[in-house]
Amino acid sequence: MSQDAPLKIKIITASTRPGRIGPVVTDWIAGVARERAAFDIDVVDLAELDLPLMNEPKHPSMQDYQHEHTKRWAAIADEADGFIFVTPEYDFFPPASVVNALQYLLLEWSKKPAAVVSYGGVSGGLRSMQVLRGLMGNLNMVALSKSIPVPFVHRMVKDGVLEPNEAMIDGAKLMLDELESWGRGLREMRG
Ligand SMILES: Cc1cc2nc3c(=O)[nH]c(=O)nc-3n(C[C@H](O)[C@H](O)[C@H](O)COP(=O)(O)O)c2cc1C
Repeated sequence: MSQDAPLKIKIITASTRPGRIGPVVTDWIAGVARERAAFDIDVVDLAELDLPLMNEPKHPSMQDYQHEHTKRWAAIADEADGFIFVTPEYDFFPPASVVNALQYLLLEWSKKPAAVVSYGGVSGGLRSMQVLRGLMGNLNMVALSKSIPVPFVHRMVKDGVLEPNEAMIDGAKLMLDELESWGRGLREMRG
């Protein structure tokens, strides 16, 4: 694989409930990320993926998956060079959907960078982001520090489109710079 080839980045919408705002936030960061030639962006919606609560009999390190939903999810993660998780905060925590989706797999995450765009009320989902970054580290991902909290997310949406503030625009640039640099470095390291 040429080191100049675009990095395959999966942007994952974590929330799954009807009426969720998650896809609006994903649309925003996906639009910004698509402006970079360095990235080949795919959007993945956990609601569409529809993973049940973890039901694989074997430890994910064996990669001996029994179910089609796991094989599908593993193929998506495996081909990726990096990730952006777009997550709400539920009870100061990431939603079960994204914890479940991460724990389905192991080696597919390894030595890959992961950024987080979190959202919520006054906290911008920061507590959720930090818990998620801890889990990512345990899965041998590089959890980027340059991630973006979006406070009062509902106030930023006009006609179904998220209108970012200055801090988010600046934050997105820093986050995507870091994702690109770690993405390239780790891709070379994985060989
Ligand atoms: C079960 C639940 C728990 C929530 N807990 C928090 C929270 O801890 N912090 C916060 O800022 N917002 C919280 N909220 C409000 C969410 O920020 C808001 O509903 C947001 O739209 C959730 O994202 P979603 O629409 O993509 O599901 C909670 C919402 C739900 C449904």
